[in-house]
Amino acid sequence: MEDKIVILTGGSRGIGHATSKKFWDNGWRVITCSRTPVAPQCPWEQNKSDHFQIDLEDLNGLESKLSELIKLLDNKPVKALINNAAISPKNNNNQRLGFIDTSIELWQRVFNVNFFAPIMLSKAIINNLQLAKGMVINVTSIASENVHEFAGPAYGTSKAALKSLTREMAADLSKLGIRVNAIAPGEIETSMISEDSEQLLKSIPMGRFGKPDEVASVIHSMCTDSFSYVNGTEIEINGGQAV
Ligand SMILES: NC(=O)c1ccc[n+]([C@@H]2O[C@H](COP(=O)([O-])OP(=O)(O)OC[C@H]3O[C@@H](n4cnc5c(N)ncnc54)[C@H](OP(=O)(O)O)[C@@H]3O)[C@@H](O)[C@H]2O)c1
Repeated sequence: MEDKIVILTGGSRGIGHATSKKFWDNGWRVITCSRTPVAPQCPWEQNKSDHFQIDLEDLNGLESKLSELIKLLDNKPVKALINNAAISPKNNNNQRLGFIDTSIELWQRVFNVNFFAPIMLSKAIINNLQLAKGMVINVTSIASENVHEFAGPAYGTSKAALKSLTREMAADLSKLGIRVNAIAPGEIETSMISEDSEQLLKSIPMGRFGKPDEVASVIHSMCTDSFSYVNGTEIEINGGQAV
């Protein structure tokens, strides 16, 4: 287990929880973080020391938690970092928050979680990733390419920035033996999608939403040797929604 360490943000529910479980089931040591504690149904519930309870909006708090993480890792190789945690704020009626209604403060909070925290985390564990010839997977979104009916501009632009960051990181980190890719989910059945999302079904050729486990399987596969020459790209997981 010590040979295969994955660090994943936002492991408490949704895609992150399904992905943590997938790695755990395949024999990886899984280190997670989220604002809430480890969910009781997690198979790694006994292993509470491998969960960091942290709010990624607070970049100062993140800085000190990163020192704890480095201590926990103790120079061990880290095979994969999955930057998954994100927020997509809505208005009081749970509708899309448009450009005019998005305050700068909110924009900043979204970027802290969705964009700056992945940068800080990736930089903090570069040595561990290099030791493992590891990989980083950034979880972007279909909303990084097009205006989305429910996700607002703060979310969309943060994901577009994360997509560009993937390219930049891949160019710079390849020389250290670290590969960097992104996955861009479409509509996946988690708490992030809106109750009114049913209307989006007509735009999905497969006629259904994706399941968290279908995203988890792709992320896990990308961390196997089958993907050894895949670098600096984004894989869409959207049932054909982008055609
Ligand atoms: N679901 C979709 O249709 C969809 C589509 C495109 C892209 N995505 C992307 O897929 C990823 C996972 O989304 P999801 O649908 O699984 O969302 P989700 O169900 O809302 O889960 C988000 C995860 O991020 C954590 N998180 C949120 N804010 C945090 C913060 N400030 N600090 C630490 N952890 C935080 C949450 O944990 P706590 O609440 O416990 O902190 C939770 O574990 C995100 O990057 C999202 O943008 C999802």
